[in-house]
Amino acid sequence: MPAGIALLEKLRAELVGIDLKVPTMSGAARQYVNLDNAASTPTFRPIMEKVDEFLGYYANVHRGQGFKSQIASWAYDTARRDVARFVKADLGVKTVIFTKNTTESMNRLSRLYPFRPDGVIVTSMMEHHSNDLPWRRAAKVVHVGVKPNGSLDVEDYARKLQEHAGKIDLVTITGASNVSGWVTPYHYLARLAHGAGAKFVLDAAQLAPHRPIDMKPASDPEHIDYLAFSAHKMYAPYGVGALVGESKPLLDAVPDLVGGGVVDIVTIENAYWRELPEREEAGTPDIVGVVALGSAIRLLEAIGWDAIKEHEERLARYMLKRLAEVPKMKIYGQNDTSDVGDRLAVVAFNIGSIPHALVAAILSYEHGIGVRTGCFCAHPYMLCLLGVGRQEAEQVRSEILSRDRTNVPGAVRASVGIYNDESDIDALVEALKAIQRGEHSGSYVMCKETGNYVPTERDCFQFESHFTLTPRLPS
Ligand SMILES: Cc1ncc(COP(=O)(O)O)c(C=O)c1O
Repeated sequence: MPAGIALLEKLRAELVGIDLKVPTMSGAARQYVNLDNAASTPTFRPIMEKVDEFLGYYANVHRGQGFKSQIASWAYDTARRDVARFVKADLGVKTVIFTKNTTESMNRLSRLYPFRPDGVIVTSMMEHHSNDLPWRRAAKVVHVGVKPNGSLDVEDYARKLQEHAGKIDLVTITGASNVSGWVTPYHYLARLAHGAGAKFVLDAAQLAPHRPIDMKPASDPEHIDYLAFSAHKMYAPYGVGALVGESKPLLDAVPDLVGGGVVDIVTIENAYWRELPEREEAGTPDIVGVVALGSAIRLLEAIGWDAIKEHEERLARYMLKRLAEVPKMKIYGQNDTSDVGDRLAVVAFNIGSIPHALVAAILSYEHGIGVRTGCFCAHPYMLCLLGVGRQEAEQVRSEILSRDRTNVPGAVRASVGIYNDESDIDALVEALKAIQRGEHSGSYVMCKETGNYVPTERDCFQFESHFTLTPRLPS
């Protein structure tokens, strides 16, 4: 067995929370099955151990002469180089700015980038809101369409580039969809974007945990100019993200946040900004989060992308095959098990007319299975996938604005991490079959304001009996 696959098999036992038993409506505790990795991944014990170890050295960075401050600064800077290596970014011309997450990275870039007054940004209908809304504040945004199977419409992309050629400042496209799992042909898209005189931004939030990324040198027409990702989706849920990309265009702007750490010198009249990345990391950064990200990157590298890809493609195939056994199953996007090379193991689906939120509630309250439901912060994309027409969309919009989410369209999403195995998918499929047969022990009521279903009889989730914020007091 290849070493990476052997390591992956051992890692399952190292997942923090792998033995977690959760309450269910029947009163019995069940082994938790986490299939919500596209939202956030849990961490592994080896990463948690590194974080714990680092806490012994924890101090503020870049400002102190004490040993702890120096070693903390060294660890922080080492993690920055780890990120550059992870995406093959040349730190001679590119910078790695630590942010909170992908959302902050995209917002940051949208505020720093020197857009022309009549500049255009091209994005797509399949984007997460975090790779759409920030751009709308910066310039005119053009959305490329998607095909009926949910994949990016590459012909429409080429058409839109041609239509706006010469005016496009940035093209920003996801590497992989958080809804359908489609992986976009982003290097090819970058080539076309560069041909139209634009820079190419990659939303790597979903891609980074699952596929190797190579930003490539600027001399390569398929290079990526900027990208963003979040550590909490790659087994380091400690609060950081990264924005990686060309430094030069960002240096004309006043730093997005100003304060300590971003200046060389301050006079009463003036402030002289430091170079990147410091000028974009005002205040004390999330040092622990950065260390955790560096450790997570090293863990992923130790496993190796061949093993990760092989494992996840096997699970994608298995999940699609097994989900198809559930009567009235409707999968959105690509559902062909023979071709999983251009998708992640992320599947959005509905079962007949059973409300998506009810399915997710029963999975949680009766089966101890965690999935996501709704529109996954990708409303325009979901409306395309679900085939919701303009009139229905208008109706739903007015209901939502009057605080009624009863009829909000959506789907259930199951998403896999490197630690999941076939048994997790089996648990999901058996539970879905039972739901489809109408077998569930509780009755549920929908909360109009949230759109979520909750059990009518009793709330079986008494959180305080599981976890409180109160620390142990030394005795
Ligand atoms: C494709 C994609 N982009 C951006 C984001 C935003 O990531 P974050 O919430 O970490 O900022 C997500 C989150 O799910 C995502 O899936």
